[in-house]
Amino acid sequence: MTLLVTGGAGFIGSNFVLDWFGQSDEQIVNLDALTYAGNLHNLDALRGDARHVFVQGDIGDRALVDRLLAEYRPRAIVNFAAESHVDRSIHGPGEFMRTNVLGTFALLEAARGYWGALEANAKSAFRFLHVSTDEVYGSLAPGAPAFTETHPYEPNSPYSASKAASDHLVRAWHHTYGLPVLTTNCSNNYGPYHFPEKLIPLMIVNALAGKPLPVYGDGMQVRDWLYVGDHCSAIRTVLAKGKVGETYNVGGWNEKPNIEIVRTVCTLLDELRPSAEGSYARLISYVKDRPGHDRRYAIDARKIERELGWRPAETFDTGIRKTVQWYLDHADWVAGVQSGGYRDWVARNYAAR
Ligand code: NAD
Ligand code: DAU
Repeated sequence: MTLLVTGGAGFIGSNFVLDWFGQSDEQIVNLDALTYAGNLHNLDALRGDARHVFVQGDIGDRALVDRLLAEYRPRAIVNFAAESHVDRSIHGPGEFMRTNVLGTFALLEAARGYWGALEANAKSAFRFLHVSTDEVYGSLAPGAPAFTETHPYEPNSPYSASKAASDHLVRAWHHTYGLPVLTTNCSNNYGPYHFPEKLIPLMIVNALAGKPLPVYGDGMQVRDWLYVGDHCSAIRTVLAKGKVGETYNVGGWNEKPNIEIVRTVCTLLDELRPSAEGSYARLISYVKDRPGHDRRYAIDARKIERELGWRPAETFDTGIRKTVQWYLDHADWVAGVQSGGYRDWVARNYAAR
């Protein structure tokens, strides 16, 4: 038995692959284009492990995907591959349309061709699991009920619009062609291997380097944080038990304003790696807001709990402590991802703020 995982060298994908082999010996073929966000060092623990086959390539490369499907005959595809950073989508939306929309389209077409030709048992067991985001639902007013699976799609950024488009394609391929799809819409993840362009790892690496901690706007935007290991277990659960054609919201029941997250990171660093110059909170710096910044996301994750029995294992306190400790213990990984390309991005995103 084999899974085809796409984007498995990125943050969540690599956590998923590592986590999978902690539970199963089933082979994974990992298709990843190795964009700036993909990093094979995340998978160093699997060097020489025959259960993991890495293929560098694009989900939009139909000939390559057809070849991989024909050769490895996977029982499922788990699609993590995407451009994932909202700020980058504001600076340059083109790649988001290419990978998230057209790439998903190409992958769906390849999956449809492969699945359509399977014999009856394999055909009914096959799954296409699409990993999506809560951002497709748009922004919530303070006090409004959390997003359920029936919340209208109201994406506000080029990133979330491209993810919404991909979700609609996945839905349509099920309704029109019968492709056995599952979609998960997850809230903000954090944990090991998180690329330091995103809030939590950026704050950790900037603080350790004595650099400003750039908080957009008033810092009162709310996100619902989920430890990445819990996202991995949710995906495994949906893959195993999810009902074909359904969507499942995945969240951590951890709504917090950004400034509270940043202060928590500072407090943990003060404890674990005290600075001679005083609390890291002295580095907090309010900067110009993100254009079109969504004010609040909150996930109602009762459906996946009620129907599939999944709940997150980590609290925010346990997850964030593990995360900060991981960054302290993996200075080499952090140094490795802060390439010239990374420094160019930081200059581009923060210079005019
Ligand atoms: P990431 O940016 O860290 O990783 C994306 C991976 O996809 C990288 O390894 C990259 O090389 C690869 N990739 C990009 N374009 C590709 C292409 N055309 N073909 C093949 N591979 C390609 O992203 P992430 O944070 O790990 O997110 C993974 C998925 O989960 C995405 O679909 C994202 O929308 C979704 N998601 C992320 C979060 C979060 O908080 N990070 C929350 C909910 C959902
Ligand atoms: O909600 C799920 C989404 O979470 C995923 O679909 C995306 O792939 C993922 O990147 C994430 O999107 P966000 O935009 O919420 O994540 P980010 O870490 O970029 O920002 C989190 C919040 O912190 C957001 O309100 C913007 C703010 N922020 C971010 C950065 C990078 C800052 O205040 N300062 C910063 O420097």
